[in-house]
Amino acid sequence: MADISFLLNGEIVRLETTDPTVTLLDWLRETRGLTGTKEGCNEGDCGACTVMVTDGDGPRALNACILFLPQLHGKAVRTVEGIAGPDGSLHPVQQAMVDLHGSQCGFCTPGFVASMAVAHTAGATDYNDRLAGNLCRCTGYAPIIRAAEAAAEAPVPGWMAEDLSALGPLASDMPATADALAEWYLAHPEGTLIAGATDVGLWVTKQFRSLGPVAFLNRIPELSGISMTGEAIRIGAMTTVTEFGAFIAGHHPGLAAMIRRYGSVQVRNAATIGGNIANGSPIGDSPPALIALGARLHLRRGEARREIALEDFFLDYGKQDRQPGEFVEAVSIPRQPDRLRCYKLSKRFDQDISAVMGGLSVTVEDGTVTAARIAFGGMAGIPKRAAAVEAALAGRPWTLETATAAAAQMGRDFEPLTDMRASSAYRLKAAENMVIRYFHEDQGVAANVLEVSA
Ligand SMILES: Cc1cc2nc3c(=O)[nH]c(=O)nc-3n(C[C@H](O)[C@H](O)[C@H](O)COP(=O)(O)OP(=O)(O)OC[C@H]3O[C@@H](n4cnc5c(N)ncnc54)[C@H](O)[C@@H]3O)c2cc1C
Ligand code: FES
Ligand code: FES
Repeated sequence: MADISFLLNGEIVRLETTDPTVTLLDWLRETRGLTGTKEGCNEGDCGACTVMVTDGDGPRALNACILFLPQLHGKAVRTVEGIAGPDGSLHPVQQAMVDLHGSQCGFCTPGFVASMAVAHTAGATDYNDRLAGNLCRCTGYAPIIRAAEAAAEAPVPGWMAEDLSALGPLASDMPATADALAEWYLAHPEGTLIAGATDVGLWVTKQFRSLGPVAFLNRIPELSGISMTGEAIRIGAMTTVTEFGAFIAGHHPGLAAMIRRYGSVQVRNAATIGGNIANGSPIGDSPPALIALGARLHLRRGEARREIALEDFFLDYGKQDRQPGEFVEAVSIPRQPDRLRCYKLSKRFDQDISAVMGGLSVTVEDGTVTAARIAFGGMAGIPKRAAAVEAALAGRPWTLETATAAAAQMGRDFEPLTDMRASSAYRLKAAENMVIRYFHEDQGVAANVLEVSA
């Protein structure tokens, strides 16, 4: 049971939910009759269900199909019905979609309109990124992008303003402090923690699992935010991938560039760094990069806290060093000169799961390698360091010969799987090539994965 208050298209909604894993999409369509928001994939991939969600940090595009109602507490939701004005006037992006023929069958259109309205409100014009999570099968993207551009200068309609203060005091029985969560989790070690729900959402919508007791982490300020000391950057577990990407661009731009290819805007706006680690996935994109940076994981169980090297958290496929009732509070990265490069290899440039993801950081002093931290996802049952490759670099002159010889050690570190994303041999070769690419890029040779040249 959770008491939830949020604004829906400007109107206050208060709910007592008996099932906290009802998705916003199902609720909108089945309970509220707001069928403008469409169900395409029901797994976060197509963007047909995109809605606009506003909190104190401004508006975000989110996929309603993998968003549970308690995640909306204290926020404002706007669906395509509320993006149009109360008197039926069209929002500038809707009008531009009509004028510039941005819609054919129309199934994808409400999702596009929601993403475009968020970009319009935020004054953002990076449409290739903003719309990468919205798939259109029939119109083609050019008219849609032209519509977004045409609407850019129009003022934001007055009806789009959200008055969150109208919700009043936000009492709820969701944990609101880390202490309350620690206590709840000790009492319910079999329970499920829900952060951004970009994994857990699919357990419900695709596997039809009944989750039993759940705790939502979105009301706990101690788990959010990024702080810095002279020694380390501490990233709260609930920091979204979007927030992390924006912050880390100033410290490790190669990691920020990779994050731009992590899911879509909608996924990054929901997914958290804590969830990306805690899920133990062998193909999560942040762990290899964080391991290459020497990250430490901060865990808490009841009153007890401990800190471990991030790579030690991943024990085996599906097995992590996490006790019942223990949760991730934060991950921290030692401050260091930037030597990190991240190479994400996937079949599609945007919104695709990695076949191989490499995080590489090689320190060179006076032409000699003094330290190397190289970690891969997609190469083993866990995100894992390439110990033999690192050893073959350490203490050697930083030359192409050294990089090539070290890359050749990759087979000692990994025996990757063959699956639908890549064969074992391809993965191994790709990982080897990443070491050589790192060397070349370090020498100033530009590599552009979007450009094919003969
Ligand atoms: C369409 C789509 C595209 C995706 N693309 C990518 C991609 O490109 N790269 C990538 O790496 N991933 C991708 N993912 C996977 C997913 O987005 C990430 O793994 C995400 O970071 C999970 O975070 P979350 O906050 O959504 O976790 P949730 O789904 O809320 O939770 C995931 C797991 O972690 C546990 N958990 C969450 N927070 C904590 C905590 N603080 N302490 C302990 N346990 C916790 C939960 O109980 C659950 O077991 C994609 C997912 C979708 C649906
Ligand atoms: S229905 Fe496809 S992303 Fe939600
Ligand atoms: S208009 Fe038909 S899917 Fe986009």
